[in-house]
Amino acid sequence: MGSALARQLAKSHEVIIGSRDPAKAREAAKGIRGARGTDYQTASKEADSAVVSLPYSAIGALGGLSGALAGKLVVSVVNPLKFEDGLLHDSMEKGSAAQELARALPKSRVVTAFNNVPARFFTKDEVMAMDILVAAPSKEVFEEAAKLVRSIPNLRPLYAGPLTEAETVERMTALVLNLANLNGTGVLTTRFVSAGG
Ligand SMILES: NC(=O)c1ccc[n+]([C@@H]2O[C@H](COP(=O)([O-])OP(=O)(O)OC[C@H]3O[C@@H](n4cnc5c(N)ncnc54)[C@H](OP(=O)(O)O)[C@@H]3O)[C@@H](O)[C@H]2O)c1
Repeated sequence: MGSALARQLAKSHEVIIGSRDPAKAREAAKGIRGARGTDYQTASKEADSAVVSLPYSAIGALGGLSGALAGKLVVSVVNPLKFEDGLLHDSMEKGSAAQELARALPKSRVVTAFNNVPARFFTKDEVMAMDILVAAPSKEVFEEAAKLVRSIPNLRPLYAGPLTEAETVERMTALVLNLANLNGTGVLTTRFVSAGG
């Protein structure tokens, strides 16, 4: 997911890919014009904002980046998922990965976004029209994240409410993936329709 998003964001931003293994990040960046690779600490320090695309089990370790990410927008795409009885479920009983990340990065502006979009939607040259649900600590921080979302053409950011709503957004990922699996539709994502007025 990180590489797929980096590919789209690099069309209008300077992108720094972070990795536990900087050589791996450099290799990943080679195929993406406008991107370079380094370790997480350097990437966090040098970036204006960050996208966290890690397994849920890894986000606790991000506390070590709280200084480097202080004062910055941090976008979590993390979904805490588990597979049980033939279906995907949210693995957290209460709360969300984004809230957990916000606790690990208390000086950052943490939002959740892109959770419900399978990476495959971002691997094509032109991204389809989609709605990106964004839960954010305030409308102002949503607007900041919305600007980043809109920098990928055809994406419409929708404010889902405060960060407490990240729980609903993350749970929707399990639903979206289950719908695709149960109905044989191929990968699905969110696009809402308005009746106007
Ligand atoms: N895949 C999708 O379609 C999709 C869509 C929307 C959201 N998401 C969410 O995005 C996150 C990443 O998904 P993904 O499919 O890209 O996962 P992934 O292929 O497993 O990639 C996650 C990356 O996290 C890094 N990482 C850092 N600490 C780690 C650790 N302790 N254990 C394992 N990896 C670690 C690894 O990069 P380094 O080895 O380079 O450090 C790894 O390549 C997940 O939370 C997922 O729910 C995924």
